[in-house]
Amino acid sequence: PAPVEAPDGNQVWMISRFDDVVQALNHPGLSSAIIPGGMMNHTDPPEHTHLRKPVARAFSTRRMEALRPRIQQITDELLDAWDTEDEVDVISTFAYPLPITVICELLGVPERDRDEVRGLTAELLTMETMVEAYGRFALYVQNLLATKEPGDDVITELRDEPNLVQTLVLLITAGHETTVQLIGNGLLALLRDPVMKQRLLDDPLLIPDAVEELLRYDPPLAEGVSRTATTDVVIGGVTIPRSSQVTVSLGAANRDPSRFPDPDVLQLGRDPHVTFGHGIHYCLGARLARIEGEIAFGTLLRRFPELVLAAEPEWRVSFIRGLASFRVRPK
Ligand code: HEM
Repeated sequence: PAPVEAPDGNQVWMISRFDDVVQALNHPGLSSAIIPGGMMNHTDPPEHTHLRKPVARAFSTRRMEALRPRIQQITDELLDAWDTEDEVDVISTFAYPLPITVICELLGVPERDRDEVRGLTAELLTMETMVEAYGRFALYVQNLLATKEPGDDVITELRDEPNLVQTLVLLITAGHETTVQLIGNGLLALLRDPVMKQRLLDDPLLIPDAVEELLRYDPPLAEGVSRTATTDVVIGGVTIPRSSQVTVSLGAANRDPSRFPDPDVLQLGRDPHVTFGHGIHYCLGARLARIEGEIAFGTLLRRFPELVLAAEPEWRVSFIRGLASFRVRPK
């Protein structure tokens, strides 16, 4: 397909080249306000600026770095429970519980609510159940805000901010669902590349670089992010007419050979990718996701250097690219 095109009969434009994707994500004529409701990722400045600032402060690099020991502890506990004599499903035993535990503790969501929160997230991310699930999710959060004791957590810190319910729904969902796929998709890519896996076993200091490359290689939001043209917008020499819907394809950009030579192979030390977006909506959880990825991959390799695929994994059907099940043999 052409780098910037509107497929026949379909009103959604698709932007796929790396440079065009970066330009689109920084273009003021491409609005994020694609659905109403006041959730930060679906607002434009100046509203977006006001909503984002306090959350960015709460997700400071310093606070995220301070979580490392706790993330390591959760990781170790989950892996202690692996049956090394048998096959295990990475998704249900590790990739899900790790990020959901981390985000819930950070926000101050009680442990007893984790399954409920996970179920609501799954429904919210499914087209057919989305609208109804949002209503129930919002009710859950309102109830939590009304009953929760103050504590050393993000909810307490943000309690007087506007649009708090929307922000919390966003943080809970974005805060775990994508990181699950980083761990699943990334581990799969690594197990399919024994040379890379061996390099990391020989030199664990390469793990942060490897996380970066795994993020590029198989990004959770591969399909991309949506925008609406509020005016005629020119991207890559093509005019996208006002009112068009646009998909900015992060996965395609990450495999653009003009930016990433030999894009279908894992290679350390590449230029930055767009897995976390670009510009004013750049992911607020990028630091946290990277830390979780480093600890997850580092610990998996150290504790299970012989880890292998036990069966072809199953991809799920969702706009977030990830695995439904992923069986490995720890040995
Ligand atoms: C925004 C990806 C993890 C919270 C974004 C965007 C992307 C993204 C592509 C930009 C959306 C746009 O431009 O429309 C990812 C990936 C993750 C991840 C791939 C994991 C590997 C997290 C985590 C959190 C989080 C752990 C929460 C702590 C957010 C928030 C926004 C956002 C709040 C909205 C920012 C804004 O609109 O200004 N994420 N994310 N994300 N992400 Fe993440």
